[in-house]
Amino acid sequence: MNNLIKVQSPLIKRDITILRNVETNTEQFRNALSRITFVMASEISKSFEVEEIDVQTPLEVTTGYLIKKQIVLVPVLRAGLSMIQPFLDMIPNAKVGHIGLQRDENTLLPIDYYYKTPKELPGAKTILLDPMLATGGSAVAAFNYLKEKGAKDCILACLIAAPEGVEKMHREHPEIPVYTASLDRELNSNGYILPGLGDAGDRTFGTF
Ligand code: PRP
Ligand code: URA
Repeated sequence: MNNLIKVQSPLIKRDITILRNVETNTEQFRNALSRITFVMASEISKSFEVEEIDVQTPLEVTTGYLIKKQIVLVPVLRAGLSMIQPFLDMIPNAKVGHIGLQRDENTLLPIDYYYKTPKELPGAKTILLDPMLATGGSAVAAFNYLKEKGAKDCILACLIAAPEGVEKMHREHPEIPVYTASLDRELNSNGYILPGLGDAGDRTFGTF
């Protein structure tokens, strides 16, 4: 799984535990998800290229830095929405696209219902945001669309990944790095990640 980057720390481990716990309420869930995403944004930003500029301090001119490429964040609705703000806290000038996908409960295949992406995709670094990578169907479909729109430099940011999803991403989009806070054991027969955290959308938005 050489496209997989595990982002781990004691604080992330603690927050993943909060996400997994069935007793965690919606507010605690959102807060823990936000904290992990913030750390993930920082980790992913290590891959950004910078360009040098001159900056005038009150005393002299020195070297400063700009992020070279426009960053485009693309949350997969619904659960990916909760990952936008922590990324925007780090990258306030990021553009944001949206992709609406919902898994069919029987086939587990993604059904698309919404697309809106910025025109800057071809020259940008595009980060797809979705807390769950299960079968990988949604992420692969999202990247198929983003590539059709010209995206070339892409990253997937998820929080919990199943081996099945990582393998599918590797087969279909081998050049795209997959960042995750946890690589879980497997999928159950309903396509849920084990041990996982349940339905990320429902737990984020309180729609049980
Ligand atoms: C969840 C999750 C991913 C998808 C992952 O969304 O947020 O988008 O499932 O599963 P996959 O890797 O097998 O495609 P869901 O379809 O439940 O939609 P929701 O966020 O609107 O609840
Ligand atoms: N989507 C979720 O929200 N949770 C899973 O475990 C799998 C897909």
